[in-house]
Amino acid sequence: MPEEKRTPSSSIAIGGLSIFAAGIGFGLIFSASKPVVQTTSTLPIVQYADRKEMLTAAREIEAALGKDAVSYDEDNLEEHGFSDWSSINSSGRGIAIIYPRTTEDVSKAVTICHSHDVPIVPFGAGSSIEGNFAAPYSGIIIDTTYMDKIVAFHPDDMDIVVQPGVNWVDLNQAISEEQLFLPLDPSPTATVGGMVSTNCSGTNAFRYGTMKDWVINVTVVLPDGRVIKTRRRPRKTSAGYNLTSLFVGAEGTLGIVTEIALKLAVVPRETGVAVVSFPTLSDAASAASSIIRSGIQVAAMELMDDVQMQLVNRHGSEEVRKMHWDEIPALFLKFSGPSEQGIQSDIAQVKSLIQPHRPRRFVFAKDHAEEESLWAARKQALWTMTSIKPEGYAIWSTDVAVPISRLAEIIEISKKEGEEIGVFSSVVGHVGDGNFHQAMMYDPKNVKDHKAVKATIHSMMARALEMEGTVSGEHAIGMGKMECLIDELGPETIYVMKQLKQALDPKWIMNPGKIFELPSGSKVASAALQSTL
Ligand SMILES: Cc1cc2nc3c(=O)[nH]c(=O)nc-3n(C[C@H](O)[C@H](O)[C@H](O)COP(=O)(O)OP(=O)(O)OC[C@H]3O[C@@H](n4cnc5c(N)ncnc54)[C@H](O)[C@@H]3O)c2cc1C
Ligand SMILES: *[C@@H]1O[C@H](CO)[C@@H](O)[C@H](O)[C@H]1NC(C)=O
Ligand SMILES: *[C@@H]1O[C@H](CO)[C@@H](O)[C@H](O)[C@H]1NC(C)=O
Ligand SMILES: *[C@@H]1O[C@H](CO)[C@@H](O)[C@H](O)[C@H]1NC(C)=O
Ligand SMILES: *[C@@H]1O[C@H](CO)[C@@H](O)[C@H](O)[C@H]1NC(C)=O
Repeated sequence: MPEEKRTPSSSIAIGGLSIFAAGIGFGLIFSASKPVVQTTSTLPIVQYADRKEMLTAAREIEAALGKDAVSYDEDNLEEHGFSDWSSINSSGRGIAIIYPRTTEDVSKAVTICHSHDVPIVPFGAGSSIEGNFAAPYSGIIIDTTYMDKIVAFHPDDMDIVVQPGVNWVDLNQAISEEQLFLPLDPSPTATVGGMVSTNCSGTNAFRYGTMKDWVINVTVVLPDGRVIKTRRRPRKTSAGYNLTSLFVGAEGTLGIVTEIALKLAVVPRETGVAVVSFPTLSDAASAASSIIRSGIQVAAMELMDDVQMQLVNRHGSEEVRKMHWDEIPALFLKFSGPSEQGIQSDIAQVKSLIQPHRPRRFVFAKDHAEEESLWAARKQALWTMTSIKPEGYAIWSTDVAVPISRLAEIIEISKKEGEEIGVFSSVVGHVGDGNFHQAMMYDPKNVKDHKAVKATIHSMMARALEMEGTVSGEHAIGMGKMECLIDELGPETIYVMKQLKQALDPKWIMNPGKIFELPSGSKVASAALQSTL
């Protein structure tokens, strides 16, 4: 049966060659100069269980795992389908939530879902933004809240094995005595399983890289219930395909990660935090570029616009409001290293580097407590915004990343477009790695505003791609960015992703409707397909 649109293209030589070979196999003759790249073939028509059958599966899971392991509570299901910071709404909701405690529990639940064709949605803390944990085709939610144990800790090897429900803040607290930490910092609520699955990052990524750099091996329950481990202990290997990286950033579409071995970093001995304000965003962004270009080892570099600075002044925590911030754009800088002296010298260099960019005020934390209050202003950005959201309003927060040389330009244009529609709009960003977020707050019932917000987001994505950037620096694709991903990668690449999906999940039950659509022609209840954005 046909699947997707045929794209005549001669740009992918390898694909062309293999099709050419297949052509010979079928006794057809292809012209070697004009290979046809196929993005069509035999992906199945997917069909899921109806609600009654889904409930039967849930009862079977209840029998296998115990009554306490299953919830049918409506409010609980609502909370597992949508959050205040979701950029997209799906009207679908799961029919039950399963709370496993072990890999075996997950495997049993998945095996049952598999035999009944029930969609499965893995759920960590639900802090992701792009509808990653929504349930557009209903099904059963697998929540890892009670899989929160540290399985093994090897401080001398600087690694740790954890269950997926472990929260990263708790983890860092638990191992702080050994002067080790996991240097990723997404939402303070996030779990390791969710962090692996979104390939998350955060303010520390500038210095320490993203989640994929910290994963040694994972245990995964595959869509049919089989359990695999991706590899063994050593930090280095070149043994076979790197299956670990297949599951990092897969958003739970290929399996459920039930155990993760992580590398750890040494807590830096000395740290410093500085905040510099600038008259305009582009001054701040170009100051950021010259710091990056200088090669000084800054640990983190974050940008907040004037609107965010107003917000923290007025609605930040008490500690943060004490600071009386200038309500103009600011760069937040974190320094770290083995000696106080080294940090002082980095700061001095940064101070002189930014001179051409018209800095207004340079605030430097005098002690650890002040470092924490300065940095808290940045960490509270999204919360302060959610706290002032009027009833019924929605926040659309999105992220893109571009080559650093284009950052000032894209931020400036995006901000201007956001302001022009007259809704609350603000920019914050992990500018150290070319990544920034724009958040807009609007009333979804106001059709004009809603449309304008949507158009602005789309033009921001298009602009990022034009600048050779990406439509998702760190929030992954979920439901929110499926169309943009096609624009970014092209149908051939998406098709290869779908073939991988098909190989591991032939029934397409694992977190369906994320990253890419179901194969066309799939017979799923039309109500489940409705989403409001
Ligand atoms: C205030 C705030 C700040 C944020 N800041 C950042 C930031 O700086 N950087 C950043 O990268 N992100 C940030 N985020 C987004 C979010 O915190 C990250 O995407 C995080 O990695 C999600 O973790 P989670 O446990 O909440 O996962 P969830 O939202 O529960 O799930 C995320 C995805 O992973 C899948 N999944 C969850 N657990 C598993 C599992 N065990 N196996 C397989 N799949 C699974 C889910 O199905 C879903 O597709 C922020 C969010 C908020 C609300
Ligand atoms: C994965 O790595 C961890 C930490 O190094 C180790 O304890 C575990 O045994 C490894 N898993 C396998 C399957 O070798
Ligand atoms: C395999 O992938 C993991 C996770 O993305 C990564 O940390 C590791 O460095 C990769 N290993 C190799 C040999 O490429
Ligand atoms: C994870 O993020 C890093 C940095 O953005 C990127 O280089 C890598 O390709 C991503 N890996 C996966 C598996 O998504
Ligand atoms: C999504 O729906 C919820 C309630 O179901 C609502 O509060 C929220 O504003 C909606 N968000 C968007 C982006 O439409």
